[in-house]
Amino acid sequence: MLPYQIIEKKSTGLELTPGEIAFFVNGYTKNDIPDYQMSALLMAIFIKGMTNEEMLALTKVMLESGDRLDFSKTDGFVADKHSTGGVGDKVSLILAPVLAALDIKIPMISGRGLGHTGGTLDKLESIPGFNVNLSVNEFQQMVLSNGVSLIGQTRNICPADKKLYALRDVTATVRSIPLISASIMSKKIAEGIQGLVLDVKTGSGAFMQTYDDSKALAESLVAIGNLYGIQTSALITDMNQPLGRKIGNWLEVEESLACLGGEGPADLMDVTLVLGNEILRMADPGLSSEAAQQKQQAVIDSGVALEKFITTARLHGGDTRVLEKPESHSRATHVVDFPASRSGVLQAVDTMQLGFLGIELDAGRRKTTDVIDPDTGFMIHKRLGDPVQTGEPLLTIHANKKPALDSVLSQMEQVFEIGDEPVDAPKLIYEKIG
Ligand code: URA
Repeated sequence: MLPYQIIEKKSTGLELTPGEIAFFVNGYTKNDIPDYQMSALLMAIFIKGMTNEEMLALTKVMLESGDRLDFSKTDGFVADKHSTGGVGDKVSLILAPVLAALDIKIPMISGRGLGHTGGTLDKLESIPGFNVNLSVNEFQQMVLSNGVSLIGQTRNICPADKKLYALRDVTATVRSIPLISASIMSKKIAEGIQGLVLDVKTGSGAFMQTYDDSKALAESLVAIGNLYGIQTSALITDMNQPLGRKIGNWLEVEESLACLGGEGPADLMDVTLVLGNEILRMADPGLSSEAAQQKQQAVIDSGVALEKFITTARLHGGDTRVLEKPESHSRATHVVDFPASRSGVLQAVDTMQLGFLGIELDAGRRKTTDVIDPDTGFMIHKRLGDPVQTGEPLLTIHANKKPALDSVLSQMEQVFEIGDEPVDAPKLIYEKIG
C-alpha cells in the first residue's frame, strides 16, 4: 500500500477499507508517514466525509494504538460525561464530584482548551499544584479509592488520536463529524466505562453551530458507544450564550464551588443535574428522573459533593486553601465593566467570538506552547431576552494586561446584539439521543 494511493482514493470520494485506514494511522503514529501526507488525508476526509464503516475502523485503530483501563472487577457503576465543548461550560467540575459522592466511579480523561472553547484540565490547573498528569496506574487507583480522578490524555491512551488531534488543530480539520466522533469515542472507550452521557452543544458558541450538524454528531457518538457495549446517551444543549455566568479558568472553578455549595446559576445547575440523571438512571434503571435529581441535590445540600471536590483536588496535589477560601486566590489587576451602548432587549450573543476574546486575555491559547493566565476572563450580567438599559454592564472583563484589555473592549460591541423586539430565552436542553 502506498500513502499516495490512499490519499488519492479518499480525495476522489471512494470508501477506504479498514486495512487502509489502519495502515495509514499506524504508519503515522510510528512516524513512518509524515505530517504532510497525514494532513492531506485529513483534509480529504474533512471534505469528502466518511462512511460509518470507515469511522468505526478509525475509532478501532485509535483505540488499539494504546492501553485500555480495566474496571471489570470493580464493584459499582463506572461512567463518564463528555461535552463537545463550549464557553463557560464547567459542568464536568460539578458533576464529577456529585456522581462520585453517589458511588459512581468516574475515570475522567479530559481535554485542554481548544479553539474558542475552554478545557477542564486548564480550569483544574488554576488550582495551584493540581496535577493532571498522573500515570494510568495512579489514575486507576485514585478512581478506585476516591471514586473520581481527572487527567489529561497520557502517552499510553490513544496515542494515535493525540498525535492526529494536534495535527487537526493546526490544519483546520477539527470540525468534521467522523473525525470528532472517532477522536472522542476512542478515548472514552479506553476508559473502560459502562455508561457515558454526552453533552452535544449547539449554537453560536459550539463547534457544531447548526442543529442538524449537532444532531448528526450526537447520533454518531451514541452509535459508536452502543456498538462497544457502553450505555450511551447524548443531550443536545444550548450554546447560544455562555453556560453560567463566569468564563475563564479560575473564575469557572469559583463558580463550580458556588454550584457545589448550592448557589449556582439555574441554567448551569439544570444542565448539570439533567446530565447526572442520565448516568444515575443507567446505573439504576428503576430510578425515576425526579429521584435521581433529588439524590444529586441531597449530596449538594449536605456538602458531601463539595467535600469530594476538595478531597479530589488534594489527592491531585492541589492547594485546597483556595477552595476553602476562594477569595484568597489571585485576582486579575483590571476588573472593568463593559456597558450597553443602547437600551433594548438582548437579542444575540456571538459566543464563539467571546471565547476568542478570552484568548486575547490569555484565558486560552493561541498556540499549544502558550501559558494560560488563570485569573482572566469574563463575568456575564445579561442573558438572552433580558431587558437592558443604556450604560448598564453587559459583562465585566478580568484582565492582567492593559493592551489586551483595551483590545477586548474595542471588539466587545460586536459580541452583543441589542434590539427592540422581545425575544424568548432559548431552550436549555433540546433533545435526547439514545
Ligand atoms: N474533542 C476531542 O477529544 N476530539 C475532537 O475531535 C473534538 C473534541
